Amino acid sequence: MANFPKRLLATVGAAALALPLTATYAASPADPDRRAREVLARMTREEKIALLHGRMLSLIAQAKRPEGVTVGAGFVEGVPRLGIPPQVSTDASLGVSNLLDMRRGDVATALPSGLALAATWDPGLVREGGRMIGSEARAKGFNVMLAGGVNLVRDPRSGRNFEYLGEDPLLAGTLAGAQIDGVQSNHVVSTIKHFALNDQEIGRSSASVQMDEAAMRESDLLAFEIGIEKGNPGAVMCGYNKIGGTYSCENPFLLTQVLRSDWGFKGFVMSDWGAVHSLGSLQAGLDQQQGEQIDAKRWLSTELVAALDAGRVPESAVDIAALRILRTLYAHGLDTSGPLKSEIDFETNGAIARRAAEEGIVMLRNPTSLLPIAASVQTIAVIGGHADIGVLSGGGSSQVAPVGGFRKIEPVRGGPAAAFGRKGYGGTPPLDAIRASFPTARVVFVDGADPEAAAKAARSADIAIVFGEKHATEADDQRDLSLDAGQDALIDAVTSANPRSVVVLETGNAVVMPWAQKAGAILVAWFPGQHGGEAIADVLAGKVNPSGRLPVTFPTGTDQLPNPVMPGSDLPPPSKDERITYGVNTNSPPFEIRYPEGSDVGYRWFDRQSKQPAYAFGYGLSYTTFTYSDLTVEGGKTLSVRFAVTNAGTVAGADVPQVYVRLEGKAKRLIGWQKVRLAPGEKRIVTLKADRRLLGHYDTARQRWAVPAGRATVELARSANDPVLTSAARISAATILP
Ligand code: GLC
Repeated sequence: MANFPKRLLATVGAAALALPLTATYAASPADPDRRAREVLARMTREEKIALLHGRMLSLIAQAKRPEGVTVGAGFVEGVPRLGIPPQVSTDASLGVSNLLDMRRGDVATALPSGLALAATWDPGLVREGGRMIGSEARAKGFNVMLAGGVNLVRDPRSGRNFEYLGEDPLLAGTLAGAQIDGVQSNHVVSTIKHFALNDQEIGRSSASVQMDEAAMRESDLLAFEIGIEKGNPGAVMCGYNKIGGTYSCENPFLLTQVLRSDWGFKGFVMSDWGAVHSLGSLQAGLDQQQGEQIDAKRWLSTELVAALDAGRVPESAVDIAALRILRTLYAHGLDTSGPLKSEIDFETNGAIARRAAEEGIVMLRNPTSLLPIAASVQTIAVIGGHADIGVLSGGGSSQVAPVGGFRKIEPVRGGPAAAFGRKGYGGTPPLDAIRASFPTARVVFVDGADPEAAAKAARSADIAIVFGEKHATEADDQRDLSLDAGQDALIDAVTSANPRSVVVLETGNAVVMPWAQKAGAILVAWFPGQHGGEAIADVLAGKVNPSGRLPVTFPTGTDQLPNPVMPGSDLPPPSKDERITYGVNTNSPPFEIRYPEGSDVGYRWFDRQSKQPAYAFGYGLSYTTFTYSDLTVEGGKTLSVRFAVTNAGTVAGADVPQVYVRLEGKAKRLIGWQKVRLAPGEKRIVTLKADRRLLGHYDTARQRWAVPAGRATVELARSANDPVLTSAARISAATILP
């Protein structure tokens, strides 16, 4: 949060009548809709409206905060007399965040970043991570978690890509659904977000995304659709941006036509914090204004009461919104889930974060099998990356203060992210983990500030391990694809000094690597979370066989991107008097964002343009080798694919065989994958069926998915541009309801 003017604190309403969260409530019915209707009938208008708006307790003076309620992202009053619990929400997808240390000293288990989770390609593991963070949210007294960010990675410079799940709608939607299902297994409502096309940070609250409906439906909206189908989130969070000139949170096409009429979503829609601009949002399909203090008006409270009194808004509009919220609370058992606040087993939870980090590490290069490093190694030089302090985490609302706290925090200087976009280092220092993994080696550390000193240390070591960082934060985007200042020079000096150098990247995005050919090996660890240090060391020592696969394309440069210049990045910076509140640049000049790729995001764009990226979507190496065989494809209403994977090497490992389809005249699309863990020599048969929405296009005129009859080529591949076996089959024509 920005430092709000004192006047805001003074005007904040009286503390909510807080219900002690340890109370238990009447049993919720098997039929949440019936119970919601029964309870609604007994509510006063004021009680109904209380459900429709939330505020940030962190902006309310301590003395005025409701008793016993954990301070987090938002607070919505309950109705004690009817057993309706308050909604106490926390961020976010990577764990229970503690923005700007609002709960002084509070820590939580930090999952690795969204891109690391996506790089596991393992819905089961991502679900387990969601279950774990949801359990910590509940243990801290929260019953709503703002987890489930699924915006597609369209531009590798976007500041929040580290929170999200990659560039492909099937992969991202599947993993988002798994994470949400995990969170909600704790009787905590999860929130798929930011609906929709909030795919960059520059001008996030003033830009309008201009895209035809079919392209939206086949990309970003498909990721949400799949995430909602698989995760059944209790809530959707509408985003800051406009779509076609209408703010997402007052956009009837998004919130009513798509979300409810087409997809049958039965939960409720909450706004992002500072994303509501009118009372019309209620009629458009918004049910709850969150973070109301940072909007211009309390649209769904004071403004709504006035409009109801004046007959400008029908009472039924309030009932509809209140009913959606109530039925969600009942459907997820928030009224019967008993006492919140309990002890947390950080050791057990940490093991889950460690496994996710291990499975998310992607090995990009290892041409001379420099990795794994032999236990007999004499001297290791560990260089840069604050490896002696901890691992890097991304800034903004999703940032988790890890168990043990941050050991180093650097503010982001200037721009909309200055309010809260901190560089935080914590978790197990990689240096400590490397020393523990190589107990007989002499391990020296050089901080990398001086490339010459670093080169000297590398030269006199058997192996050099040099870290490269690229920070990322909510509320701002990156201006290029390079590592942070000085990192390339450092890595170039080290890899030039010793060819037996391993580069370990801690980044929030895809990056360019001018030194790549000099590196003896390259690992992408992303923002690796609580036990990222151990995960990195385990891969370096061969205790873990890397199995991560890129969930995003690594381009060779911005010239390969659909928008070489990021939309809005060439606009003048916000003027000094701009009200930049909570990272929401509310007054930046409105501008339009056009995505030339349409629904061909990421690898599809590279395929369509016949461009060769530095490293392709789905790419990743292993310490063993896998072979594919016996591919068969059956056509008809959909594609049924069967094949065998064999571990042809000498060590156990996991592979992610991917299946892409190419339809006449279309870019290739991922239609399936499976993560298979195999012992040496073991063979596994995999079968999968394509989601038919991926076999056609969205026909806007008929408001249907249209699958034309025709020949489909199927590739069984190691990555988006490395097919191993191909086959073909004919698909019959079909139309599918959205
Ligand atoms: C933010 C983010 C959203 C977060 C919310 C509450 O600005 O866009 O992801 O959940 O505010 O912190």
